[in-house]
Amino acid sequence: MSVTRIYVPRETAAVSVGADEVALQIAREAKRTGVRVQLIRNGSWGASWLEPLVEVEVDGARIAYGNVTAADVPDMFAANFVQGGEHERRLCPINEIPYLINQDRWTFWRCGLVEPLSLEDFRKHQGFNALEKALADGPEAVLDAVTASGLRGRGGAGFPTGIKWRTVAETESPQKYIACNADEGDSGTFSDRLLMEGDPLGLIESMAIAGVAVGASKGYIYLRSEYPLTHTILSRALQLARDAGWLGENIQGSGFDFDIELHLGAGSYVCGEETAMLESLEGKRGIVRYKPPLPAHAGLFGKPTVVNNVVTLGSVPNIVNLGGERYAQMGVNRSKGTLAFQLAGNIKRGGLVEKSFGVTVRELIEGYGGGTASGLPVKAVQIGGPLGAYLSAEQLDTPLDYEAFADIGAMLGHGGIVVFDDTADMAQQARFAMEFCAIESCGKCTPCRIGSTRGVEVIDRMIAGDNREANYDLLVELCDTMEHASLCAMGGMTPYPVRSVLKHFAEDFATSGGNG
Ligand SMILES: Cc1cc2nc3c(=O)[nH]c(=O)nc-3n(C[C@H](O)[C@H](O)[C@H](O)COP(=O)(O)O)c2cc1C
Ligand code: SF4
Repeated sequence: MSVTRIYVPRETAAVSVGADEVALQIAREAKRTGVRVQLIRNGSWGASWLEPLVEVEVDGARIAYGNVTAADVPDMFAANFVQGGEHERRLCPINEIPYLINQDRWTFWRCGLVEPLSLEDFRKHQGFNALEKALADGPEAVLDAVTASGLRGRGGAGFPTGIKWRTVAETESPQKYIACNADEGDSGTFSDRLLMEGDPLGLIESMAIAGVAVGASKGYIYLRSEYPLTHTILSRALQLARDAGWLGENIQGSGFDFDIELHLGAGSYVCGEETAMLESLEGKRGIVRYKPPLPAHAGLFGKPTVVNNVVTLGSVPNIVNLGGERYAQMGVNRSKGTLAFQLAGNIKRGGLVEKSFGVTVRELIEGYGGGTASGLPVKAVQIGGPLGAYLSAEQLDTPLDYEAFADIGAMLGHGGIVVFDDTADMAQQARFAMEFCAIESCGKCTPCRIGSTRGVEVIDRMIAGDNREANYDLLVELCDTMEHASLCAMGGMTPYPVRSVLKHFAEDFATSGGNG
């Protein structure tokens, strides 16, 4: 009797809605009914609203069943689900789900498709091909490809990756480092996690390629502590790669040494800022450093260091395999390639959508996301994490492009899109921005440390109707000071959400429900 392959994601969002129980129930039911199945715990495809999304392989096609619960499983077996039988949970073959097929999957293409902790499956899906190519072609070819791709940092600042890598490559030092920023602290973001859980070996390959390009022999992954499952998956993947000679000394006999250490963060937002992250990696308190020197010249332990976000690094293997020009053909203007947008908040179909730059906010929210979960009209959308501006409903046709966003006083950040319906109290959201800054400030500079606390007080007075106009002017002035005089973007960008509320939702200060 043949064995049927059944896929159940082992990914944090899927597990949080019962994927482990579903997997267990499938194993039990298969045993009870005498059906031979092979359970594969894949990563998530990113359609979080359909989790747990179970697939069964029938004649080479993977048939999807959405929102499966453990209680559904006996019924699904009775409906011959192992043969793709009809059932109310049955959707269609996975490669016909519109949410997934209308994406431009460059970086996330293996997520959901492969078994994350199978080296064999990874190799079958081009795994380590790009590293082999990088080792054969040499550093200059990799630097040229990354530069030609126009890839910019996906962690928030959008700095050109090719320039960063070349700076480190050209800096003389016997020791250099690759530091992968996996702190993923922005509200509504989960793309780093999805990639690390769905394609952990891909991240290892990406970091090794960066090592080849700049001449680094050691990498660190700084992982946020709130991701325990990711930690488990990455730890196993690192061991698998090491055991098979893809990490360590003399990788695959190439003469190139590279190893990676996994480091858990301590739950601080500012530790995602690259220099605070380096301090934390060195075992110190996560406080922002003065720049210069740049990390590229003197970073971790004072050595030249590439600091890159998970998704930035994850975009590199295909750039090496397919050429930088191919990547640069996607996107618009100076925003080349794709961004992994993450739909969250009050949205019907939350999840990850990897799409070329240039798609509009409306296309993502209405087309992919299906509008608000509440069914009420969209009032505001915050893009780029807690330091991102709130867009009004009139701004939803803005194309997602770094420069188009800068033009409207907003930013793309890490691609998190958090939707609010028309019941949202935007005065409270402005207050929250200042309060968040006050709580998370590292304390090194005055405009951020003191300004954010004063900002909460000023907003509270406005909400209370105490001298509203004078306090409005004071808040505008405070925002200018924080923007121009803060040492890093924490204090420097907190004014973005505050100003956007003043601009688009000022009437909410009069109707706000209280002081939080
Ligand atoms: C307060 C603050 C928090 C940040 N948090 C993160 C984070 O969680 N993850 C990240 O990749 N970058 C974060 N950044 C951006 C990093 O400082 C840095 O620009 C990035 O890691 C560089 O990698 P990239 O060029 O690949 O984007 C943060 C920046 C600031 C100011
Ligand atoms: S802006 Fe805030 S977080 Fe950044 S260095 Fe100053 S006090 Fe620290």
